[in-house]
Amino acid sequence: MKHIRLKGRLAVVGLGKMGGILVQSFVEKGITTPRDISATVRHIENAEPRARQFGIKVSNDNLKAVKGAKVILLCVKPQAVAEVCRQIADALRADQLVITIAAGVPTAAIEEELGHVPVVRAMPNTPCVIGHGMTGICAGHFAGEEHLELSRMLFNAVGRSVTVDEKLMDAVTGLSGSGPAFLYIILESLAEAGVKVGLPRDVSTLLAAQTASGAAEMILQSGSHPALLKDAVTTPAGCTIDGILELEEGKLRVTLIKAVVKAAERARELMPE
Ligand SMILES: NC(=O)c1ccc[n+]([C@@H]2O[C@H](COP(=O)([O-])OP(=O)(O)OC[C@H]3O[C@@H](n4cnc5c(N)ncnc54)[C@H](OP(=O)(O)O)[C@@H]3O)[C@@H](O)[C@H]2O)c1
Repeated sequence: MKHIRLKGRLAVVGLGKMGGILVQSFVEKGITTPRDISATVRHIENAEPRARQFGIKVSNDNLKAVKGAKVILLCVKPQAVAEVCRQIADALRADQLVITIAAGVPTAAIEEELGHVPVVRAMPNTPCVIGHGMTGICAGHFAGEEHLELSRMLFNAVGRSVTVDEKLMDAVTGLSGSGPAFLYIILESLAEAGVKVGLPRDVSTLLAAQTASGAAEMILQSGSHPALLKDAVTTPAGCTIDGILELEEGKLRVTLIKAVVKAAERARELMPE
């Protein structure tokens, strides 16, 4: 896949877990260089290990960091977004792009603080760190196709992206934002099951993880419905159908659906008053 080189500086406001993952991935993919990044945190002492790891400048001066940057990546917790926006509003111009990854914070709330500035809202997930992320993206009022395009190019460099209507962003948060955690629990359980039927733990974990990765790739590469791919594994009167019966009895489907619904509802509640 062709990656872009970002022309201009990238300001990362909130170099925490997710901000750090994105910075690391963008640098590794050659989208930007440590020299072209200015990052901020609230407590400067917390950021020293990350600053050293990435070789970037980190401060707690949000206004200075965003001044003149081409793209401003807002990676603070949802509760801190309004405060940060008020701090940086005076430095922002309409030729800059603000990308927010804060769960549950609508673009309108950010525009209210920043005025006439292009805002794109994105929901990436942690596998971005190895280039297998999934990011949902939507545009605010003042963001045009060129801003969406630039955002897609950034996030496509660390996985895949999909553009959705903003009303679906909480759903994206509940599914692909929280999804890695749900899948780790499933994989941990499958690995535990392998141990139960006699496999060494490392072999069991490898079997589970590679099986999940392969099954996911089958869907992505073939575009087939998961049910059809499942049917192809399920021989009449074979082993798989016995396993499926247990899954249905244990209400796996309903449990997963409820997990995503709850996570999406929680995302909606994160917007601070
Ligand atoms: N983790 C995920 O999987 C994930 C996925 C998608 C989106 N997100 C979103 O990403 C955002 C960050 O999540 P996270 O898990 O990365 O949290 P985190 O590790 O706590 O990072 C938050 C960062 O923001 C900094 N910060 C707080 N107040 C600030 C201020 N006023 N000015 C500058 N920096 C400030 C913190 O600095 P200090 O450490 O010094 O306080 C910290 O570095 C959240 O809005 C979340 O919804 C997370």
